[in-house]
Amino acid sequence: MAAPRLTVLGTGYLGATHAVCMAELGFEVLGLDVDADKVAKLSDGAVPFYEPGLDRLLRANLDTGRLRFTTSYDDVAAFGDVHFLCVGTPQKHGEYAADMRYVNGSLDALLPRLTRPCTIAGKSTVPVGTAEGVAERIKAEAPAGDAIELVWNPEFLREGFAVEDTLRPDRLVIGVTSPAGEATMREVYAKILANGTPMVVGDMATAQLVKVAANAFLATKISFINAMAEVCEVTHADVTKLSEALSYDTRIGGRFLNAGLGFGGGCLPKDIRAFMARAGELGVDQALSFLTEVDAINLRRRARMVDLTRELLDDTFLRRKVAVLGAAFKPDSDDIRDSPALDVASRLQKHGADVRVYDPAAMDNARRMYPDLSYSESALDAAAGADVVLHLTEWAEFCEMDPGTLAAVVAQRNIVDGRNALDPERWRTAGWTYRALGRP
Ligand code: UDX
Repeated sequence: MAAPRLTVLGTGYLGATHAVCMAELGFEVLGLDVDADKVAKLSDGAVPFYEPGLDRLLRANLDTGRLRFTTSYDDVAAFGDVHFLCVGTPQKHGEYAADMRYVNGSLDALLPRLTRPCTIAGKSTVPVGTAEGVAERIKAEAPAGDAIELVWNPEFLREGFAVEDTLRPDRLVIGVTSPAGEATMREVYAKILANGTPMVVGDMATAQLVKVAANAFLATKISFINAMAEVCEVTHADVTKLSEALSYDTRIGGRFLNAGLGFGGGCLPKDIRAFMARAGELGVDQALSFLTEVDAINLRRRARMVDLTRELLDDTFLRRKVAVLGAAFKPDSDDIRDSPALDVASRLQKHGADVRVYDPAAMDNARRMYPDLSYSESALDAAAGADVVLHLTEWAEFCEMDPGTLAAVVAQRNIVDGRNALDPERWRTAGWTYRALGRP
């Protein structure tokens, strides 16, 4: 039997990576986006965002002819045996709930065109219960109706490790309503399964929940250690030592236990909020009320960063120059969605500070989203004449910076390490006042 032909609806981080990796696994893949510009870029071999290793794989697979991109739903419907739904579900403006317009929009376009048997595999992060609604829509709106299988297949990829996480995931999760759906997914992921990757097969509701539960847990872990950082700050304890000591307990583990400026990005913040909103609709809001606190702890870190900076500047931001190192929500990414670094930078600017921002990859995105901030061409350039340097995204370039070189250009040797990623001794020895979140 011929291998199924795959389509990927939505070519953002998730979709573009999925399309490229499925082609890499040997499938014929057609990626769709409504953004013609994105489709043109991808077709030309250019990844429209920063993701290490993805460009090379994109070009290699375009060259084989297995991978193509289109804006046409007619092409997608005619081509695909399995349609992966990978569109975004951002937070609604002014609400916690997920904005489902892209999911609904892509189904509006796809379903009436499905005239032969196929599978729809939902990968977008959605409120639990969405898949059940999609199943009803398939029956009502797709000409092939009952001959269309629906499966839910959440995606756990991290930005910066997207290729690795897709080709060698920790686990595969599939929600199914029939053996046929499971068989199709086993065929698509055969090579990954052959590597020994565990696959959890369950019902639709569970599969949808796994993704938000995983992100809720990760966010909670980060906020837990950041709550400990708050306590460390008033007891003169050191949260990095605390975290290290906890990490040797294998039940706790050290990953996602780095205290600092907290989590941002396009997933964790909006996913925990959408999860709370959905729990409210389901009448189990109490079960997730702790996530309100997780969110609040996370946001308090940003306020604390501003306060700590003010302390170092003798209680005023006026006529004070602040160098902000980092704009991306985490290193090895150009993603600035809900970036803690840019949130802090813009708060400081509103307080009257003269803020200069530098990031190795996220400058264009930052300029677009925060046009009122000032930007520099390098870390040294941002630090020139600065009264304080803020380390807000732990790029390797910043972690390896030489305190002596930086000392030569600043006005005052003040540094705040918002990510607990610099070596305090090294900076103090070079004459710097080193401060960090959760450390004496
Ligand atoms: C996350 C999930 O990890 C991934 O499984 C899911 O599919 C999408 O959301 P991502 O948004 O790429 O991935 O970022 P992640 O690496 O999880 O980091 C999230 C945020 O937490 C970043 O802002 C990071 O700086 C912060 N973080 C992470 C900490 O503050 N401390 C830590 O110990 C770890």
